[in-house]
Amino acid sequence: MQINVLKATAGTCQANLIVIPVFGGKTFSIKNVKGIPAELVDRFMVSVERTGFAGKLYETVSLQLPVGGNADAILVIGLGEKKSSNLQAIREAVGMATGMARKNGMKSVGLILPKELSKSAIAEAAATAAILSDYSFDTYKKEASNKHLDLFVVATEERGQLLAMRKAVEHAETLCDGLTVARDLVNTPGGHMTPSLLADAAIEIAKSSNEMVDVKILEAAECEKLGMGSYLSVAKGSGQEPKFIHLIYKSPRPSKKTVTVVGKGVTFDSGGLSLKPADGMMTMKCDMAGAAAVLGFFATLSRLKPRVNIHGVIAATENMPSGHSTKPGDVVKSMNGKTIEVLNTDAEGRLTLADAMTYIQREVKPDAMIDLATLTGAVVAALGEEVAGAMGNDKKLMKEVLDASEEAGERTWELPLFERYASLVKSEVADLRNISTSRYGGALTAGLFLAEFVEDNTPWVHLDIAGPAFAERPLSTYVGKGGTGFGVGTLVKYVQNLE
Ligand code: BES
Ligand code: MN
Ligand code: ZN
Repeated sequence: MQINVLKATAGTCQANLIVIPVFGGKTFSIKNVKGIPAELVDRFMVSVERTGFAGKLYETVSLQLPVGGNADAILVIGLGEKKSSNLQAIREAVGMATGMARKNGMKSVGLILPKELSKSAIAEAAATAAILSDYSFDTYKKEASNKHLDLFVVATEERGQLLAMRKAVEHAETLCDGLTVARDLVNTPGGHMTPSLLADAAIEIAKSSNEMVDVKILEAAECEKLGMGSYLSVAKGSGQEPKFIHLIYKSPRPSKKTVTVVGKGVTFDSGGLSLKPADGMMTMKCDMAGAAAVLGFFATLSRLKPRVNIHGVIAATENMPSGHSTKPGDVVKSMNGKTIEVLNTDAEGRLTLADAMTYIQREVKPDAMIDLATLTGAVVAALGEEVAGAMGNDKKLMKEVLDASEEAGERTWELPLFERYASLVKSEVADLRNISTSRYGGALTAGLFLAEFVEDNTPWVHLDIAGPAFAERPLSTYVGKGGTGFGVGTLVKYVQNLE
């Protein structure tokens, strides 16, 4: 989809559907609607009277236009009370409008921004929603969907804002490229999305990065040598080779700060010998969504060029039952020396993350470490399908990550790492056990397990994205079913805010 930022009005903007966002609610007045061409005002008034339109959030009223003009129809869309409106309202409204356009076979949409909305943050949010709402995953279909938009126009009367708004749209395009990379990877079925394919995706990202991103792939034998017994115990049951992926972005501008992002990359989670029931397995191709977010994020870096060095780590593997699988009760030794009693092979994510975290802390001594993982069903029970759980050991980093997620429109809520619960993952026969002795608080005990692998107080945030990483029903007007790309937006905002 082409996105243009132009100086234009509802009467001059060339597009099938003209969208006019308007504040309203209690304070609605017809005068709020800026941009209705003079000759249409009377007709618009009639529609407003008839429908009782008051500019409430996501309320709409539409007008068909005479043939031969600059547009086919106008859609006025409410943003609600001005004082409580935010970027999320713009994203939802734009997704709603582009959805209506697509449904009607339209190919172009023009968003008319009045002076008060002619800001780069609004242009960025609008462009992001327009692009994301147009996403479809057609790889496995005989015919790709033809219901796509060709053009989205951001129209402003503020010539002075054009440059800033264009830059913001360019940024949205970069971000959406990353989100699309992540969505495609997550949507690819487990039968194709193997650890090797994930490694290939990482190599591809490095290749097209203008030498700003480097990648190392460690094979099983090297991981063995490094002592990654925890990670390899998950891979043992699979017919697919594990691939330990290490991505490195070196800032072209001098930087002393090093950030690492760790993604859970279980390309299919059957549960292993602690086999999941069929229903629970149906969506488990999504268990590499943390890895997908890391890869999507890295795909943006050569264009964003943030002033910080970034390492990405993915201990990719399948979790499968077989004659070679780890057995419940087995004790494995992690790279940092701690032994783990594996009582449930379905709590495999933490086993892979433990060694990934140890590896990268030994390798680079990061200033901040963020992991993203579809780690527990418990976090979905606690926060629902739209919200990620955040846990960590550092107030400042936590705030930075939460702020970034808020700005990105990715809902994240902090959960506590209460020390009292740490004993729930201590084992009688090993240092740790991979499941809690309690049935409750599973998201927290998973976080506490990971905390055992944080060294020298490295500032660390764990994002449990099991809920929002994969949508079983549409999450918003611009996030449809399937892989959502959750996490890419948060990571991008996080590194941008560091500057
Ligand atoms: N990959 C799952 C968690 C998950 C659940 C992700 C739902 C996305 C949606 C994870 O490996 C898992 O199986 N966790 C177990 C842990 C339990 C055995 C302690 C769970 O949540 O049931
Ligand atoms: Mn599992
Ligand atoms: Zn899993």
